[in-house]
Amino acid sequence: MKPSFIPVSMPDLSDLETRYATEAVASTWISSTGAFLDRFESEFAEASGTNFALGTTSGTTALHLALAALGLGQGDEVIVPSMTYIATANAVRYCGAEPVFVDIDPATWCLDPTAIEAAITPKTKGIIPVHLLGHPADMDPIMQLAVTHGLWVVEDAAEATFARYKGRLCGSLGTAGTFSFFGNKILTAGEGGAVTCNDESLRHRMALLRGQGMDPEKRYHFPIVGFNYRLTNVAAAILCGQMDRRESIIDRRNAILRLYAEELADVPGVAIRQDAPWAETAPWMFSCLIDPAKFGCRRDDLASELAERGIDSRPMFIPIHRLPPYRQSAKKRRTVLPVTDRLGALGIMLPTYPQLSDAEVLRICSSVREIGQGHLSKRVAAQVHRLTPTQPAAQPRKAA
Ligand SMILES: Cc1ncc(COP(=O)(O)O)c(C=O)c1O
Repeated sequence: MKPSFIPVSMPDLSDLETRYATEAVASTWISSTGAFLDRFESEFAEASGTNFALGTTSGTTALHLALAALGLGQGDEVIVPSMTYIATANAVRYCGAEPVFVDIDPATWCLDPTAIEAAITPKTKGIIPVHLLGHPADMDPIMQLAVTHGLWVVEDAAEATFARYKGRLCGSLGTAGTFSFFGNKILTAGEGGAVTCNDESLRHRMALLRGQGMDPEKRYHFPIVGFNYRLTNVAAAILCGQMDRRESIIDRRNAILRLYAEELADVPGVAIRQDAPWAETAPWMFSCLIDPAKFGCRRDDLASELAERGIDSRPMFIPIHRLPPYRQSAKKRRTVLPVTDRLGALGIMLPTYPQLSDAEVLRICSSVREIGQGHLSKRVAAQVHRLTPTQPAAQPRKAA
């Protein structure tokens, strides 16, 4: 029997999400007000260790909302990693500002605090550390730099829901935190996001901007230009179900990541990020680096051969400073990011979702091992062939 196709991610939805979503529909409160929305925002704020959470249409709009509310504008600069999903940089551009890319730490794969100061200029307004692939950025030195230079910090926690830095929740450490509930995220409503903060006046500005700028005291009066970034009550209902089930979702994802790490630990040329001692990571996508010299083939060849075996995967993010909308400005600034480039070239994400069985993880890991071994043995055979002197063709014996 042909083994079944393994996608790279899959939302984990149960009868509970169906029931809550159905209740929302039956109530006719399907737009951006309703009981599920209030419940989700208060539960999420509490679970992420903040005073306030606002639901948004996506992680991208959560970022834009935070930056706009913080007053980011034309000519400003923001320090961001280039190793992230493009939304982090795009949100800066939406405000007319410019992302200034800084390299990542080879241990955490997140913004390198020692590289930030050199990138700060009089135009710098803030820093966006991304808690990449569920691992917290080293926030203490980042917050220290922000205080010294009078900058705000927006944590992009899209991939790090409920991760902790030194015991404190990601998204609660900076000026604001942003989250994504896209279909491949730890909690999902298909699309959706949230922005968290502790400051009431910032919450007020973000709420105003989220709702088209409408004055909360005077209906249909619009004192400013806002956006429509509101989460719906139906999406919030699905998220309430995800919140109720979050422990089991996170436990299963963690178990999958542990199994991958155990199974791939001794595969030559496969490097797995080690968690920093202060990190409690969020179990997003299992990721590792493929060193072609030791593994036997390049990351992309591994991905194609996995696909032939019915296993989906995803390459690491292309560094943003290499992408067309940002290439020119990064070049002008002489941006050189060797750690980012290495991760972008070697990194691969493997299937991670709660419904993935242990047997499927073992199938993926043995496929990775076999593909690498296959290439290494071909390489050895080719070397042996090159080193073996060609035998002269046997001469026919002359007749005496
Ligand atoms: C680091 C990071 N930031 C921002 C986003 C944007 O989130 P969304 O896709 O919900 O807009 C994502 C999601 O994919 C992400 O991974």
